[in-house]
Amino acid sequence: MGTYVKAANTSEIENGSKKKVNVQGQEIILAKVGGNYYAIDNRCPHMGAELSEGKLEGLVITCPRHGSQFDITDGHNVRWMKGSGLMSAALKAISSSKPVKSYKVKVEGDSVMVEL
Ligand code: FES
Repeated sequence: MGTYVKAANTSEIENGSKKKVNVQGQEIILAKVGGNYYAIDNRCPHMGAELSEGKLEGLVITCPRHGSQFDITDGHNVRWMKGSGLMSAALKAISSSKPVKSYKVKVEGDSVMVEL
């Protein structure tokens, strides 16, 4: 069991949005959807692109580089890279899908806390 560390103030994240934060040297995305807060690593497990620059639609974030998608509730892989065709099939064949690390989140007063 880890320690909860303050990552942001509740007022910093609007419902339906995300924010990149640095918590003890760790790049994390905080998101608020449906009134709940979620936290995942900022770096895509494929080739390290910044997921914070991707699009958040509902509970799914899309990597801006190759289009992999992750569920922000637990980091599981929804889609492993976008596209079709020979090149895409070859890329998918040589790198199997991976989840992105997710973190437990709790709110204390006006602080959003992440378990590291
Ligand atoms: S770096 Fe994210 S899908 Fe390739």
